[in-house]
Amino acid sequence: MKRIGFLACETTLPGAGERRGDAFEHDLMVGALAPALRDHDLELDVIDWEAPISAFAGLEMVVLGTAWNYQDKSKTFLARLDELEARGITVCNAPDTVRWNITKSYLRELSENGAATIPTLWREIVTYKGALEAMEVFETDRIVVKRQIGAGAEGQELLVRSALPDAGWSFGHPAMLQPYLPAIASEGELSFIFIDGELSHGVRKHAAKGEYRIQSLYGGTESVHTPTAQEEQAARAIIAALPFDPPLYARIDMLRSDDQLLLMEAEMIEPYLYPVQGPLLGERLAAAIAKRVHQ
Ligand SMILES: Nc1ncnc2c1ncn2[C@@H]1O[C@H](COP(=O)(O)OP(=O)(O)O)[C@@H](O)[C@H]1O
Ligand SMILES: [Mg+2]
Repeated sequence: MKRIGFLACETTLPGAGERRGDAFEHDLMVGALAPALRDHDLELDVIDWEAPISAFAGLEMVVLGTAWNYQDKSKTFLARLDELEARGITVCNAPDTVRWNITKSYLRELSENGAATIPTLWREIVTYKGALEAMEVFETDRIVVKRQIGAGAEGQELLVRSALPDAGWSFGHPAMLQPYLPAIASEGELSFIFIDGELSHGVRKHAAKGEYRIQSLYGGTESVHTPTAQEEQAARAIIAALPFDPPLYARIDMLRSDDQLLLMEAEMIEPYLYPVQGPLLGERLAAAIAKRVHQ
């Protein structure tokens, strides 16, 4: 039976010490994908992406799974993906796609290609003064400052004019600044999951009370969301704006502003794909994988 690797990391893998608070999402993904792959005569092997290279011997393909610790070692991560590819293992999504997606400046390119994105200022350094300037530019009292290389809202800060940090404050990473969009607290964030460019399902993600980050690590919850025709069109327009063919999987995260859905992120590295809200996800992903390895 051909084997497909599912890249995990030391804190998402079961049985390797203390797991992350959201490791249950790893279990849900594997639980959806493994049985669906078996129907295609494929076996799923869950592997730490940092394992010795010998652990990958004999795999046909790897999917990037729950490698949720790559942010601070992105060069090593990319080198590993290249190494796997050089050994004849298909890597999905492709290393070039990952390289493009790893720095959020891809949002700039998509916006130049006509995608509707959240207004953003790009800064190598953000000081207190720079934060105030962003509030002026966006005519708002609340801004979100994010890392240009980041995931899981790590290192992100919400700055509010009535409770500013002290004048010596600065942000420790190359940054992107955005107006805080209040829709996050009302409608929530909408995600659209695409497999090989086809919409699989939609999800609505809500933050916990008093929080604005929707990630499960911060108490966020999600529910099934059936996209309207207009929403589907907005999400498809993002896929169409990609500078390459639609990848195996993509999660398009959007937030509404003035009745328009704006792109927050187009996640093509190791997004959680919400199999609980999309019961056909496992089958669709398995079929797309089978198409690649059985051809
Ligand atoms: N402009 C914004 N307005 C309101 N909430 C935001 C904004 N940007 C980010 N957030 C919140 O922070 C979370 C993380 O931001 P995101 O851009 O998705 O980065 P990450 O790559 O870390 O997931 C989002 O899921 C959302 O809950
Ligand atoms: Mg996100």
